[in-house]
Amino acid sequence: MSHTSTKPDLLQLGSYAPAHQAQLEADFTPHLQAALDADPGLAGRIRGIVTRSNVTVPAAILDRLPALEIISTFGVGYDGLPLAAAAARNIRVTNTPDVLNTAVAELCLGMLLGLLRHLPASDRFVRDGQWMKGAMPLGVSLSGKRVGIVGLGRIGKDIARRLEAFGVVLSYYGRSDQHIAYRYEPDLVQLARDADILIVAAPGGPETNKLIDRAVLDALGASGYLVNIARGSLVDEAALIDALERRTLGGAALDVFEQEPHANARLAALDNVLLAPHLGSATVETRQAMMDLVLDNLRSHFAGRAVPTPVTV
Ligand code: 8YV
Repeated sequence: MSHTSTKPDLLQLGSYAPAHQAQLEADFTPHLQAALDADPGLAGRIRGIVTRSNVTVPAAILDRLPALEIISTFGVGYDGLPLAAAAARNIRVTNTPDVLNTAVAELCLGMLLGLLRHLPASDRFVRDGQWMKGAMPLGVSLSGKRVGIVGLGRIGKDIARRLEAFGVVLSYYGRSDQHIAYRYEPDLVQLARDADILIVAAPGGPETNKLIDRAVLDALGASGYLVNIARGSLVDEAALIDALERRTLGGAALDVFEQEPHANARLAALDNVLLAPHLGSATVETRQAMMDLVLDNLRSHFAGRAVPTPVTV
């Protein structure tokens, strides 16, 4: 990490798997934030920020970086990025859309089926020798269920396409009617009322903050299930936990939480939830494709070419 290197200096916020870190360091000189304080001249040389969706990048950090040209995030979500401050200084922002759709959709289906068929409990049931003493409670079929998707973007559509194979009835809520084969429902509470299963697949950010509130959860009801593979910020977690504890909601499969990596301890006490530590894109293949795209964006930018996946809002 010498400052005499000809590789562009980057500020690295967040960590990567060792193989990905090595890929990054082959073409760039990443510095951790602590290095900015240790070396007063460093901030002026930083030309890019490389980060990931589970990190919040405060707008104030941009003020410390006069030579900043690009922010490249590892992830599709950019709710943690200071987009307005970046735009005001013509700093490019890139993300990794599309390459992770399949992995997120697969996890969504896996978590939904795991929730309906009590897979974590059934695994413990066999391991703990309880099978000898009796039978597991029956699960619930996915076939024939009414599924509402909140946010039918690229990931939502990949989930919907996979769900078609399970023989469900699909509706969706979002900013606009996309005039496609699934029914559009402009009223989120109505979508929840009409659904057995609600899947949250919309982006995070101020516009969707606590979109899934008490009214939506009440409408989904005691035999309803919620799946969130999007962002914890979309769900009023206090209302959700309350509904799960009171059994006014049937169950929830959650890959994302309000305060990651801290899942509320009350969730751990519930048997009607299935929890995962933000694994949506976490496959070997997908994480490699994401890193390749992060690097492709950075290399393209520093070579003076158009970046493959700019964030445009
Ligand atoms: C990442 C994500 O796993 O793409 C996103 O927005 O949330 C996930 O794919 C994660 O944020 C990487 O840090």
